[in-house]
Amino acid sequence: MTDAEFAHLEAELFDDYGLPLNGLHGARHWRRVDKLGRLLAVYTNADVEVVRRFALFHDSQRYNDETDVGHGQRAADRARQFCADELSPEQMQLLYLACASHESGLTSDDPTIGTCWDADRLDIDRLDKLPWLTLISTELGARIAKLSTFDRLDWANLEPWTKKPRGIFRESQS
Ligand SMILES: [Fe+2]
Repeated sequence: MTDAEFAHLEAELFDDYGLPLNGLHGARHWRRVDKLGRLLAVYTNADVEVVRRFALFHDSQRYNDETDVGHGQRAADRARQFCADELSPEQMQLLYLACASHESGLTSDDPTIGTCWDADRLDIDRLDKLPWLTLISTELGARIAKLSTFDRLDWANLEPWTKKPRGIFRESQS
């Protein structure tokens, strides 16, 4: 998936998303999960095609920024509608499972699902919390989870969440 394809799919999901794009689970978070996931995937051998789509879809069907039970299942269903034609059945199954179960507090031995979930959980600094090590799936994820917030953001070349976001607009807002 190229960056242009990522941006195109992201823009389609903006239309679906009823919460602030710069909110805790909005597009700003999707992009950070994408970045973390791609970095992890270099070492975990995760399928990047699945990881990038997970980043976009996993929180895209939320109704609120709280617990929102069921948003993972809704995301999985949405991902299948959008991606079934682009991915192999095996990739689609990984994406579906990763989205559907990401809210269940599990870890996974599958490198792709584990990378998806670690990437999501390593963006916990935006909530002013530290990653919970028992919820990290991959070896590299655990090493990064143990870093200070400063060093983790530095590793991923991410700005602190508190810094004003740039460049995330719905078309109607641009
Ligand atoms: Fe998330």
